Amino acid sequence: MPTPPPHPLTRTEIAGVPVAELAREFGTPAFVYDARMILDRLGDLAAFDYVRYAQKACSNLAVLNLLRRHGALVDTVSAFEIRRALAAGYSLQGTPPPVVYTADVFDRESLDLCVEQNVHVNCGSPEMIDQLGARAPGREITLRINPGFGHGHSRKTNTGGAQSKHGIWHEQIAECLKRAERNRLRVTGLHMHIGSGTDLEHLSQVCAAMERAAAEVGDAVTSISAGGGLPVVYQPDDEYVDLDAYFRLWDAARKRLEARFGHPVALEIEPGRYLTAESGYLVAEIRAVKRQGENTFYLLDAGFNNLARPILYGAYHPMSIVPSDGAADRPERDVIVGGPLCESGDVFTQTEGGFVATRRLPEARVGELLVIECAGAYGAVMGSNYNSKPLAAEVLVTDGRPHLVRRRQTFEDLIRGETIPISPARSPRASATA
Ligand code: LLP
Repeated sequence: MPTPPPHPLTRTEIAGVPVAELAREFGTPAFVYDARMILDRLGDLAAFDYVRYAQKACSNLAVLNLLRRHGALVDTVSAFEIRRALAAGYSLQGTPPPVVYTADVFDRESLDLCVEQNVHVNCGSPEMIDQLGARAPGREITLRINPGFGHGHSRKTNTGGAQSKHGIWHEQIAECLKRAERNRLRVTGLHMHIGSGTDLEHLSQVCAAMERAAAEVGDAVTSISAGGGLPVVYQPDDEYVDLDAYFRLWDAARKRLEARFGHPVALEIEPGRYLTAESGYLVAEIRAVKRQGENTFYLLDAGFNNLARPILYGAYHPMSIVPSDGAADRPERDVIVGGPLCESGDVFTQTEGGFVATRRLPEARVGELLVIECAGAYGAVMGSNYNSKPLAAEVLVTDGRPHLVRRRQTFEDLIRGETIPISPARSPRASATA
């Protein structure tokens, strides 16, 4: 079983680099990723034939490039994610395909790119089969099947079952095979992803569903994907999946399919969070320590524009204080940690449904740093420019050396592409204020 990284309430370093130094050099808020942690997590999954990184979790080019150099394949969900993969050094051709496009729809850009560049497609809707087939007959495709059930850490991350928009409904496999045949596409892969942050019990049910689906598709199937969804330990009660047990289940299912088909069947896994969540730290500065009645708020320069998981899912992230005097024994107090945005939901300590919670943290002063941990997955990538806040800097630490891998947005970056239309006639009011 993996060991969770330590989350002490006070910390001085991230990946061997003093946090104060990181803040001085790169400013705050900044995401700092520990390359070692990403590679350790990749190593945990070595039993699977192929690890395909779901880059939606953290698609910084440096992270993609790191994973590529260490053997991970990549999953993409948009035209620009395909282009990111290419920019990070992935090639498109190979067996298995290094880059796969997995979605429930093609927008026009992604369809063009998949057709023109021969990107392998994992179809999540019957329409995708027709749309690809009309322009690129003769291709091999994968079908993403919704097995009729799902599970996730939040209702919003459950991607299976009849309430989920994802995947081809398991009862429509035969119909989709006919569509594929009509379009001269060969279904050689099957894929299932039932949700994010789930558990062994639910993940295991997918194996049986996969076997049923593969039996229906028949011996053209040469690869199966277990999808992503592996949980990480955000808080002490969370549990990792027993990876050995999980692999054994999938391996046994794969071997039964191999015996049935009489040829090898490759086994892929497609994690996002598992590879990058624990590597990431959001470093912020405390800008106010505010008393509201009986509550104390630590207000940071980072908000849900940087890390949306708490406001979206009530997600819990470990937090630590970086005491400027190095004191590791400050008294603790229950505080609410919030951000700078003009919106009351801009609180990092909340539970699902938007209920504000407190967190026991050491006493801290304005100007000290606070680190929000396990923030590498679905952190920077879900950042926004709300309140005209720039996207944060991103830093990758390799062998104890920090590298700026995305500079903080500037004002010019922020307004790039915006224009003010020239009005044909100036109103008297406009001229009065001109
Ligand atoms: N494969 C497919 C087809 C997916 O849709 C996803 C995630 C993954 C793999 C990777 O799942 P993971 O291993 O990271 O759980 N924003 C949410 C998570 C949304 C995940 C969407 N799909 C969060 O912050 O928890």
